[in-house]
Amino acid sequence: MKVKIHRLFQHLLETVDAAPQAIVGFSLSGSPVLGDYLDDLDPNQSLDWNGRDFRGLPELRDHVLRQAGLIGLCDAKDVLITAGAAEANYLAIMQLLQPGDEIVIETPGWPQAEVLAKAIGAKVVKVERQEADAWALPLDDLAKAVGPKTKMIFITNPNNPTGDLLGQSEMAELVRIADGVGAWLLVDEVYAGLEWDGPRGPSVAGMYARGITTGSVSKALGLQGLRTGWLICPDAQMVMDAVILRENASEIMNIMGEVIAEVALRPARYAMAMEKARSEGAANLAQMDAWVKAQEGLSWIAPRAGLIGLGRLPQGIDSDAFAKFLLGDPYRTFLLPGSAYDQPGHIRLGVGGGAGVNLSDGLDRLAQALRDWP
Ligand SMILES: Cc1ncc(COP(=O)(O)O)c(C=O)c1O
Repeated sequence: MKVKIHRLFQHLLETVDAAPQAIVGFSLSGSPVLGDYLDDLDPNQSLDWNGRDFRGLPELRDHVLRQAGLIGLCDAKDVLITAGAAEANYLAIMQLLQPGDEIVIETPGWPQAEVLAKAIGAKVVKVERQEADAWALPLDDLAKAVGPKTKMIFITNPNNPTGDLLGQSEMAELVRIADGVGAWLLVDEVYAGLEWDGPRGPSVAGMYARGITTGSVSKALGLQGLRTGWLICPDAQMVMDAVILRENASEIMNIMGEVIAEVALRPARYAMAMEKARSEGAANLAQMDAWVKAQEGLSWIAPRAGLIGLGRLPQGIDSDAFAKFLLGDPYRTFLLPGSAYDQPGHIRLGVGGGAGVNLSDGLDRLAQALRDWP
């Protein structure tokens, strides 16, 4: 079946055309520039395929395992380099789900799994995170939602869009639930490394034979334009199935993405970049938190991890109408309405963009729009 557009993407398409003057909602760290990498690049680098492995550059796959804490738990052959976490999710979902299968997903959550599952003709079963429960994933509900037809459970950890975080014991419980029915457990961890109140969640690929971890250099490192991410899974057939689907889509990785990502994930460089991302993200988060607290009628559960959270609008304001109002004159400010995540009373607030982002400008405009709302 045809893949249909989701509200979130529809909104992004429309607002790019509207040329906003401010953005409240940067969802990735400040982005480096190409010049930051030139000293480490070889001018004689061939622009052919990497010529070494269809799974991606071996040294890059080693770095991927290291940053995920999977050395000794997984092997480089379990890693497939992909065009972002988006392609990694795509390959896994398209190859593992069949029409009539069930997939259990979280809401609010990243919409990709639902969009693809519907196109496949699979049944989507949603488990609701509640704001009253600080957006925690209700594992009891999830256990009830899973059954013999469940082929896959898909979640984000840290969660997009609430910033909730599952720790070791919750992940172990999730594995137990998935294992009980033999389901694949796909955990998208694009925001990993940006935990504000606890350790990084464990990567599921090291915990479960049917665990699939997806991630990328897009968020914490701000390298979204490289289109470089990964899928990690200890099941060799699953990784091969992903390679086969990719062969029939984009065939191979883009070499510049692989080469620059390999430099970016070298241990010393990665540690420095993460320190910067964490300190800048934490500063923006503190600013946002203070701002939210100062707004009449606006509230949020500050993200425990990652660069986005959901703000609850004052009673009676619809997020779509408000996002449209905010995008118009004189505010000309972009944010994602909660409707993109089935939360029409919320807006998505982002603290990405690093130290260079002019968060105050967007927040001033947002505060004014809230005051002016008819
Ligand atoms: C949860 C989640 N998964 C995947 C993606 C896609 O990221 P990438 O640039 O790695 O493809 C995003 C991007 O916003 C995301 O938030």
